[in-house]
Amino acid sequence: MKLFASILLAALMGVAASTSVAADDDQASKPAAAAAPAKAAKPDPAKGDTIFNNTPANSQSCASCHNADGNSAIAANPKLAQQHPEYILKQLQDFKSGKRKSAIMKPLASALSDEDMRNVAYFVGAKKVKPGFSKEKDLVALGEKIYRGGIGERQIPACAGCHSPNGAGIPAQYPRLGGQHADYTVVQLNQFRDGARLNSPQMTGVAAKLNDREIKAVSDYIAGLR
Ligand code: HEC
Ligand code: HEC
Repeated sequence: MKLFASILLAALMGVAASTSVAADDDQASKPAAAAAPAKAAKPDPAKGDTIFNNTPANSQSCASCHNADGNSAIAANPKLAQQHPEYILKQLQDFKSGKRKSAIMKPLASALSDEDMRNVAYFVGAKKVKPGFSKEKDLVALGEKIYRGGIGERQIPACAGCHSPNGAGIPAQYPRLGGQHADYTVVQLNQFRDGARLNSPQMTGVAAKLNDREIKAVSDYIAGLR
């Protein structure tokens, strides 16, 4: 154990030494006044915090439903913490345009500019998600099977293939699912299936093949993923 620790330490120091050499090289090889290419303004999470937590008095704050750190305590309201900012931004745009229907989120998203949406997405996406738990002991095996392996004979793909084995998703296209409230996930899979959520042909195709019991099982499994 002691030997392992000292090898590890030596390795870490080696890495530190080589990165500082690399950094020096990097500096030396770059002309001091190289012009940076023009980029979109950087997202400003501090402004996002203000929108999320102190929305003007004429509207409800995001935090009142999603919690101050994005870890909604209410099962119908999704956790937003640790979600990929690009995905959050897309959802807000889709609520605004109506591609994703929600009577609650439509007016709230419509009040935000694209810049507000970006700021709020980078604010809440940087928070750490609170893990959840699976509750349906008799469904968890079915949920795990669908999530990890899909159901081959019905061409249901493994969720893990796009959302990653631990549910962290793959930035920026594939959202994090791990730890999400099962009730919320059930509603989303139903909405993909029934057409209330029309913002992902891929997910419409996946959800179309799942029956209610499978939706319940996989949603419960996802809640406990970490
Ligand atoms: C009155 C409660 C309420 C308020 C206030 C609220 N939300 Fe929501 N939010 C919801 C509900 C409910 C959903 C799920 C909608 C659905 O059925 O698809 C949701 C969904 C979302 C989603 C989609 C998440 C995902 O995983 O796809 C985002 C992003 C979001 N809200 C951001 C915000 C932001 C930003 C604000 C503040 C401007 C806000 N919400 C204010 C209740 C609320
Ligand atoms: C081919 C890739 C792919 C596969 C396989 C896949 N998904 Fe998705 N999923 C996506 C994409 C892309 C989105 C984002 C949709 C959007 O932009 O709104 C998504 C979104 C979702 C959402 C919405 C998340 C939220 O926060 O609202 C849920 C829930 C979901 N997927 C569950 C599943 C489940 C369960 C399975 C397995 C049965 C699965 N997905 C398989 C690509 C995939």
